[in-house]
Amino acid sequence: MPIPTHEGGLHEQGKLGVDQGYGGVARALHWTIATLIAGMYITDWMRSGAGRGSPERIWWLSAHESLGLLVFALSLGRFLWRLTHRAPLIHGTLLLRRTAEAGHALLYLATLGLPLAGIGRAMSGGADVVFFGLTVPSWTGRNEVLSSIVGFLHGGLVMNLLLALIAGHVLAALWHQFVHHDGTLRRMI
Ligand code: HEM
Ligand code: HEM
Repeated sequence: MPIPTHEGGLHEQGKLGVDQGYGGVARALHWTIATLIAGMYITDWMRSGAGRGSPERIWWLSAHESLGLLVFALSLGRFLWRLTHRAPLIHGTLLLRRTAEAGHALLYLATLGLPLAGIGRAMSGGADVVFFGLTVPSWTGRNEVLSSIVGFLHGGLVMNLLLALIAGHVLAALWHQFVHHDGTLRRMI
């Protein structure tokens, strides 16, 4: 049965044309944020490999915080863009589409929520937050209760769950492209 797409045209369900891609802004933001997310893990990895209290360790944490705040700003812009612009219809059965929507919603939540938890993690330890040379002093001072909450929200377990979510997202994109040949990956490139 033909169904209206988010673009306003009529298409047979699950057989959307590959021309219905994301716009330039959505694509640029998607790939910039995806690259920055890789940067978040790399900067954290470099920080944890540097000696405790060393200038290198502080530098890598500052880089981590600066890039993370950039992720937040871009994700906020991306979210607002998404609210005000149509996205192409997702391919597949209802269950598949709902799963993809839930996955995308979780990715938005992660790119907006994790930076906030990161600010909390720095500040609740009494430390300043750095944004490309600009320093914002801790609003909370040392706060054990807050620290244990944001320590969990911005900790290893949640970060590994994000990695699993991204892996699932990438595998889904590759599956669409190479098994289903429905052009899903192409419309984000
Ligand atoms: C999407 C954005 C972000 C991602 C994916 C991310 C990722 C990570 C990861 C993987 C860790 C190591 C967690 C652990 O093993 O305990 C970490 C730690 C940390 N992150 Fe982030 N981060 C992000 C944004 C931020 C932001 C915006 C800030 C602060 C402004 C921040 C501050 C911190 C701090 C203070 C730590 C702990 C460092 C330490 O142990 O001394 N992060 N982050
Ligand atoms: C190599 C890595 C990645 C690939 C190949 C990829 C691929 C794609 C593709 C093909 C779509 C479009 C899906 C569709 O048309 O139904 C998409 C959407 C999306 N991706 Fe990725 N992605 C990658 C990494 C990431 C990362 C790291 C994030 C965020 C942490 C992310 C967040 C999103 C979100 C939120 C959407 C939904 C966009 C919307 O409809 O508003 N992606 N991705």
